[in-house]
Amino acid sequence: MSEGANDRYRELWDIADEHLVRYRGDFYPLVVERAEGVYIYDQDGRAILDFSSGQMCATLGHNHPAVVGALKRASEKVIHLYTNMMSPMLVELADKLADLLPPSLQKSMFPNTGSESNEAALRMAKIHTGGYEVVGLSGSWHGQTVGAASSTYATGRKGHGPTLPGTMAIPAPNSYHCPIKHCAGKCDMTCLDVGFEMADRQSVGQYAAFIAEPVQGAGGVVIPPEGYFERAKEKCEERGMMMILDEAQTGLGRVGKNFAFEGMGIKPDILTLSKTLGAGVPLSATVTSSEIEESCYEKGFSYYTSHLSDPMPLEVGVSVLDVVVNEKLAERAAEMGPYVMKGLKELQARHEAIGDVRGVGLFIGVEFVKDRETKEAAPVFLKRLLARSLELGLNLIPASAEGISAVRLAPPLFVTRDQVDSALGILDQALGDCAKDLNSTE
Ligand SMILES: Cc1ncc(COP(=O)(O)O)c(C=O)c1O
Repeated sequence: MSEGANDRYRELWDIADEHLVRYRGDFYPLVVERAEGVYIYDQDGRAILDFSSGQMCATLGHNHPAVVGALKRASEKVIHLYTNMMSPMLVELADKLADLLPPSLQKSMFPNTGSESNEAALRMAKIHTGGYEVVGLSGSWHGQTVGAASSTYATGRKGHGPTLPGTMAIPAPNSYHCPIKHCAGKCDMTCLDVGFEMADRQSVGQYAAFIAEPVQGAGGVVIPPEGYFERAKEKCEERGMMMILDEAQTGLGRVGKNFAFEGMGIKPDILTLSKTLGAGVPLSATVTSSEIEESCYEKGFSYYTSHLSDPMPLEVGVSVLDVVVNEKLAERAAEMGPYVMKGLKELQARHEAIGDVRGVGLFIGVEFVKDRETKEAAPVFLKRLLARSLELGLNLIPASAEGISAVRLAPPLFVTRDQVDSALGILDQALGDCAKDLNSTE
């Protein structure tokens, strides 16, 4: 770094210390000046492979020309509107999304964040059923607004006041860490049966919804066994609950399909999309059937935010769907995923710290343990591994769930074999460099 650049870098950190709220621990020790494709570039112009796709959003890669073009077009036409006004982009996005979805999911609305898409879904479920109780999965992440946060069990619950009455968690189908200490290696879904039995005991007879991620992301890439969501759907129907599937991370290609529910033998009553729909621009969707939409409308459904239906993110969403379809992003993820998994399994054979490697498409979790028998988490090791990887040029996103030490590998879906090889090489070196820290406690 030149002396001038160094001064500017130091000055930025000084101002940050003075004026920024630290909302999730410390900021990473770099300043990102620009980003393109699979890379972000720091203050020294150093290229870093971004295997977190930003915050799991940039499936097209950073600053994809389709996204940049859409932002430019929108800024020359209309950026923002009164929420009850319609724009061509609103209709076009709803239409294009409907083309990708089954007949029971044809009605959409478009808030901005994943949290908001889930708030809207929960409000729909509540007004449609007349109930208010919501069952979620342990290890879940649905957002930070109060309804979504009430059904978020991965982390962040303590110290922020009460959650909504009527929200309950059942154990997630985590075969590596069976939450009811029952299965080993393969989930037999006892957790689902026991979970709903326990929920029934607590319920006051006012069920509204069951909300879940098809594959838990923040929970550490937790993949349910085959048939899990079919059984869960039966349980929802028996109880008159809406099934809300939150495909913030899994939607639009990442798992090797356009939507994860496509491989699950069921369709949700309400589907939410976010992160990947705007591919880096805040855009989300809440999608349901014509019947549920009609019922909600008749009962006075209201969900209204400042940027709902804003033309600028909608224009981006239309372009993103075009890229997803035309570039066959789901197929790319399905092809590249096994290559990454194979490389990670090879690393697992050489590095004791890797307890588990699991994934679907380009949504891959690697869990680190102090001991493969006890599966004890290694949080200090993980922190050092993330820092070392970043120093060497690879950004990985940790799972947020409490009690485990895992990372998600979720690169942009255009990632090449060479880029994967570089990332695995860096991870290999970082694992070796940090091996001495596996049992560290500070
Ligand atoms: C599955 C899932 N749902 C919802 C959200 C919340 O989205 P947002 O942060 O855009 O509100 C997240 C964010 O990480 C998520 O992973």
